Amino acid sequence: MSERSPVSGSPLLANDTFLRALRREQTPYTPVWLMRQAGRYLPEYNTTRARAGSFMKLAMSPELATEVTLQPLERFALDAAILFSDILTIPDAMGLGLSFSEGEGPRFARTAADESSIGSLAVPDMDKLRYVFDAVASIKRALRGRVPLIGFAGSPFTLACYMIEGGGSSDFAKVRRMAYARPDLLQQLVDLNARAVAAYLNEQVVAGADAVMLFDTWGGMLSAAAYRRFSLQSMRSVLAALRPHDDGQVVPTIVFTKGAGAWLEDLANCGVSCIGLDWTVDIAAARAQIGPRAAVQGNLDPLVLLTDAQTVAREAEAVVRAAGPAPGHVFNLGHGIVPGTPPEHVGVLVDTVHRVSRELR
Ligand code: CP3
Repeated sequence: MSERSPVSGSPLLANDTFLRALRREQTPYTPVWLMRQAGRYLPEYNTTRARAGSFMKLAMSPELATEVTLQPLERFALDAAILFSDILTIPDAMGLGLSFSEGEGPRFARTAADESSIGSLAVPDMDKLRYVFDAVASIKRALRGRVPLIGFAGSPFTLACYMIEGGGSSDFAKVRRMAYARPDLLQQLVDLNARAVAAYLNEQVVAGADAVMLFDTWGGMLSAAAYRRFSLQSMRSVLAALRPHDDGQVVPTIVFTKGAGAWLEDLANCGVSCIGLDWTVDIAAARAQIGPRAAVQGNLDPLVLLTDAQTVAREAEAVVRAAGPAPGHVFNLGHGIVPGTPPEHVGVLVDTVHRVSRELR
């Protein structure tokens, strides 16, 4: 993997359209991948998950994680693979005890919500997360240079949300209260997470990840001032801590904040290669505002995939046209694929993005 292509500096890949778009280079068409492209909408995923016994057993087995990472690539002409894992592996490695119960989402056995529980946490030994880095290396081998592999982590703030609440929440009220009542404590937790996330992403890059993404799913529920302080600032410090390769280049980076539309200016200046947009954002206006500062990724409403093939094609085309032919657009959904999505609709989506964007060049 030490050989690099002379043009974009990316590792030699049969298809590096995605990495070129992240670097805002010309591409013959718009690359596309989808958040949660490996998941419950695919019958073969459900089969492998049943074989594993649980979501965590699946994620902790490099062989099975490799199998499910590649499943959507066997069906669709996707331009990137994403590591099969979860953002909550880090707090699990910190000792919070993660489990996923059927249909209920993530649960932690212990929370980190007060001075003593937060004070007793430390950046985990990366050896506890070795199964993730082994999965990255195994997926890279299995891909054999077909498409780039995306590594990822939760944003320091989004991880803090789950650690404080002990699981998912409709309003993350404890977290938002802490942002005003004990900003020092929330800051302490977010700073710790930022150091863990940076170490984790650096290890994923060493293992072979070609790009890395931060999922800031809950940053969008904060006030503007709290977003800047607890979410954006900690993502900046993660990005700044990413180590360059031997050739001096840092891998391209993506930040996805649900609700990013409110903070495009801050995100454009935060040092990230690409800004992920949810479906509420006007992608044409966002691209005009961001300009050459970053690429954009997005932003079809995932619910479009629950309609019919004709509507999927029409709405996908509308996003491609709104984003325009200028370099620097990666097509994606505005959030993850929902279970119940007919796999054929994903095929229609991917093919439409490729066809329409070629015609627009
Ligand atoms: O294909 C991919 O996108 C890669 C794998 C991936 C998963 N989770 C697998 C997964 C990625 C990138 C994630 C990120 C993640 N995990 C986020 C950020 C993105 C987002 O969706 O906002 C968050 C908030 C989590 C935490 C999490 N994991 C929740 C809330 C849940 C339960 C709800 C749900 O969507 O099922 C999970 C479980 C999970 N992570 C599943 C998958 C495929 C489904 C679990 C199953 O198979 O039962």
